[in-house]
Amino acid sequence: MNWDIIADAYLGISEDRDKIIFPVLLKYIKEFSPKNLADIGGGDGRFLELAFTHFNHNHFSEFALTDSSTRMLARAKSRLSNIKNLTICDSHKTLKKHNWDLVTLIAVWMSLETHEECINLLSQIKELLSSNGKLFTAVTHPCFRHLNYHSFSANFDLTNYFESGKKFRVNLYDSIRSLSLWDTHWTLSDHTHQLNSAGFNIELIEELQDVDNNSEGSPWLVIIASPK
Ligand SMILES: C[S@@+](CC[C@H](N)C(=O)[O-])C[C@H]1O[C@@H](n2cnc3c(N)ncnc32)[C@H](O)[C@@H]1O
Repeated sequence: MNWDIIADAYLGISEDRDKIIFPVLLKYIKEFSPKNLADIGGGDGRFLELAFTHFNHNHFSEFALTDSSTRMLARAKSRLSNIKNLTICDSHKTLKKHNWDLVTLIAVWMSLETHEECINLLSQIKELLSSNGKLFTAVTHPCFRHLNYHSFSANFDLTNYFESGKKFRVNLYDSIRSLSLWDTHWTLSDHTHQLNSAGFNIELIEELQDVDNNSEGSPWLVIIASPK
């Protein structure tokens, strides 16, 4: 999918992922106290900005954001212009290896279209992590893609659940705008096998609730993993 073409439309929708995912990330940062943070596929930098604003300026010594979309990088540069010690670049391959205490990969894994792409990216992330480093990743929950949530629906037919790599349409919406995009379905087993193949152990899985308490199931799944 070409994120340069849809970046502005995507960012224009008041979608709930930051409201749902950030409290868990915040809790984890408080527990784990990483000294630096790299956000891979960080989009316009909203998660880095939230992390920066919730802690005092001395908490993190260094931030990085990478994204393959030029338009997203431009939006991130504008949004994060007040953060010092921040590297913004188009590839995680240029970041310092064995340096990062926390790497985040939020709403990116569903953009990766093949097992190889997933395992390669995860393996490269593992190389970035410091000796006690952790990966914090969030994906839309693969087991509940047939349900509608407050700001997205996928209408994924669960009889296709075991079709790994199947493309599916996701509709994002707020009260004014909507956008349809393609994602790739990875089962829960795929996520665990891909992490395992990339050299990670899973430490924690958290299934998150929608902002709408009446929603069924879980819209987002967080996986925290550390190098084996
Ligand atoms: C759904 S957006 C999420 C952005 C951000 N993580 C957030 O949650 O606000 C997915 C982002 O992943 C980026 N992306 C997709 N594949 C990527 C890859 N292989 N490496 C780096 N970024 C990638 C896209 O350009 C896009 O900005």
